Amino acid sequence: MGKIAQELLAEVRAYVGGLGPTVAEFISPWAEDLAERHIESTSLACLRHLDACAANAEGTAGEEIARLLAERGQRLRWGQTYTVDDFGQGFIDNYGWLELVGTRGHFANENVACGFLVLGPNLHYPDHHHEAEEIYIPLTGGALWRKGDGDFELRAAGEVIHHPSNTNHAMKTGEEPLLALFLWRGGPLAARSTVTGKAD
Ligand SMILES: [Fe+2]
Repeated sequence: MGKIAQELLAEVRAYVGGLGPTVAEFISPWAEDLAERHIESTSLACLRHLDACAANAEGTAGEEIARLLAERGQRLRWGQTYTVDDFGQGFIDNYGWLELVGTRGHFANENVACGFLVLGPNLHYPDHHHEAEEIYIPLTGGALWRKGDGDFELRAAGEVIHHPSNTNHAMKTGEEPLLALFLWRGGPLAARSTVTGKAD
């Protein structure tokens, strides 16, 4: 199991490091080697969307990350923060995240967490916020993203989306599933988001 996590981390370091100094600075607390945790893999229904995500990411800088997740992501530990009671069964069957680095994920770091979010097609992840400052980078295009009180905006693969501490954000997918990389710092890294929006 270790090898896929290590390959993914190497790809993430290169990808995030190539997004310019502001984003690269986010992972400066990873300057040292990160201790690997040997945690059990867990699968989720949403992983069935990873092949489509990898196809969508082809030709972009994040294609190798998407390919690794599609081919061997099932060997990693996926989780969910929400339950059926929050957003319904349709959401739970089409949503999940993987913490690659952080306080509980495959590599240990107490300062900056990093992982991936998967959302299936035609899904609405309602307004939510958290204390940690966040950067999202969609690895697939086609989803709509909203920040604060703004409108939903179409974001392309590779765009850097910054959410300051406690700023509401929401996503809506279209016909394609979404795979996005996230980075968190400056707040409790395993905190559950506060949801203020309503599911459709
Ligand atoms: Fe967030």
